[in-house]
Amino acid sequence: MTHSGPELRVEGLSKSFGPVRAVDDLSFTVRPGAVTGFLGPNGSGKTTTLRMLLGLTAPTAGRALVDGTPYAALRRPARVVGASLEAGFHPGRTGLGHLEVYAPQVGVSRQRCRDLLDLVGLTAAADRKVGGYSMGMRQRLALATTLLGDPPAVVLDEPANGLDPEGIVWLRGLLRAFAAEGRTVLVSSHVLGEVQHTVDDVVIIAGGRLAHASSLAALADLAVQETLAVSPDAARLAALCRERGWAVAPEGAGLLVSDVSAAELGAAAFAAGVELHQLTPRGTDLEQVFLRLTAPGRPAREPEAVVAR
Ligand SMILES: Nc1ncnc2c1ncn2[C@@H]1O[C@H](COP(=O)(O)OP(=O)(O)O)[C@@H](O)[C@H]1O
Ligand SMILES: [Mg+2]
Repeated sequence: MTHSGPELRVEGLSKSFGPVRAVDDLSFTVRPGAVTGFLGPNGSGKTTTLRMLLGLTAPTAGRALVDGTPYAALRRPARVVGASLEAGFHPGRTGLGHLEVYAPQVGVSRQRCRDLLDLVGLTAAADRKVGGYSMGMRQRLALATTLLGDPPAVVLDEPANGLDPEGIVWLRGLLRAFAAEGRTVLVSSHVLGEVQHTVDDVVIIAGGRLAHASSLAALADLAVQETLAVSPDAARLAALCRERGWAVAPEGAGLLVSDVSAAELGAAAFAAGVELHQLTPRGTDLEQVFLRLTAPGRPAREPEAVVAR
């Protein structure tokens, strides 16, 4: 833990663009030493929130703090929070040339630029023009720019966009390593599955409002359990499930039973003398939880769904 990162905190943050309430009374905290996923559908206010956190957009109300200080008041911000928001690249510059433009602002050497290109796997493309980079290569270059000042906090807006599966695995390893070093890592995505294996904590927003904040494990606890059961007497099995109040749906040769564990269903079938040929617990489907939490029309902030940390 050599990089103990700052706590990021958003308090009653709101932003309106004319009639559009992009961010609406949003509060959450991001702890150091962990990767936090900032999740929500497209247009839910993620980028606007991150821009306010980084002092790029003025809030309509509320505030965003880095260890208690607004970003704009930090003495050397690039040394505290590295951020990549919609990376703007000059297409005529080389990858190395791009980093060398930022290096003096951050106060780092040209050698550091080369080291970072190496870290993000762009050494072979260092002298190629960014205009010819793939989307994934641009993401890697944006990450290198973010890391110039070796910041103890990293804020990344949809960094997995455009990365191929191998790139996503690589990014996961890098972010996990940052968190293990004690840094604060906040990473946004509109696809939970993309970051599901990367994050420790989740902050989920919908329509600019907080829908859920907890550890990933606590989010998984909200997932509906499902069990697939195959019986030669499917009609009796279905009747038994309905008696118990478990929803059933035919699937292949069997029945998909909701809200029940394989153990419970097996015990009920055994007690009723219903023969089973297959009993398969289904993994918890986090994407379904995410969709449920962010569904349009769902009342924002159901108290029981907001798990305090
Ligand atoms: N500069 C802007 N002017 C007007 N509306 C904006 C501006 N930036 C964002 N919005 C609106 O605010 C909402 C949230 O956008 P954004 O923060 O980009 O969401 P996300 O990053 O989650 O996709 C959207 O309705 C978007 O159209
Ligand atoms: Mg966005």
